[in-house]
Amino acid sequence: MNNKSIVLITAGPTREAIDPVRFISNHSSGKMGYAIAATFLESGYRVILVSGPVNLTLAHPDLTIIPVNSAHEMFTVCQDWFSVVQIAVFAAAVADYRPAEILGYKMKKSDDEFNLRMVKNVDIATEFGKIKREDQIAVGFALETNDEEQNALKKLSKKNFDMIILNSVQDEEATFGFDTNKITLIHRDLSFHKFPLKNKKEVAEDIVHATLAIVNPVI
Ligand code: PMT
Repeated sequence: MNNKSIVLITAGPTREAIDPVRFISNHSSGKMGYAIAATFLESGYRVILVSGPVNLTLAHPDLTIIPVNSAHEMFTVCQDWFSVVQIAVFAAAVADYRPAEILGYKMKKSDDEFNLRMVKNVDIATEFGKIKREDQIAVGFALETNDEEQNALKKLSKKNFDMIILNSVQDEEATFGFDTNKITLIHRDLSFHKFPLKNKKEVAEDIVHATLAIVNPVI
């Protein structure tokens, strides 16, 4: 292991199993998280990328990709790294709920309706926020459909983020799956910085630049 500072990044969706052949998930492609990982690597950091199932590749001597499926698996891996990271970036779209039980066999079609009981998943970012030290930085995302700024501010405070990146599914060609995104950075002092639509690599550069300005403030 080298002496470079470590960045932990979550990326992509999680999959919550219903039975051996079905799961609940979302449309995250992982592109945003992987672009952030590439940018931190270019900036000289060692990156631990905890990735849900995506069709992306990234290779670098200072990169470790740890593939996971469920939110529980993502949390278990992240927990192992919490104490040694300087920066954690939570870019994954983690399922908030999972089926209360995973059937051991393929569920059969019978009635016209069926109800699935769901239970809450652990919130990975919130757990890091509870134990985060003064020398550690947490950067989160808020993916919103309405009351965007209000909801992002609530998450910034509740999850103890140093900065939150707000993206809205109402913006065209932003968020899930696109090669572009349109973000607003919100800092702890509640200062806002709105960016125009850019490709995700440029967005990642803006995010990494703003994060490193928190790590090394210009006095
Ligand atoms: O992957 P792409 O297709 O490139 O799309 C990028 C993206 C839209 C997925 C990404 O930019 C993004 O917004 N990721 C966060 C999506 C999300 O789940 O937001 P949220 O508002 O539900 O969660 C708030 C924050 O808590 C996020 O940092 C999330 O990673 C984190 N979280 C949420 C739930 C949970 N159980 N654990 C978490 O860590």
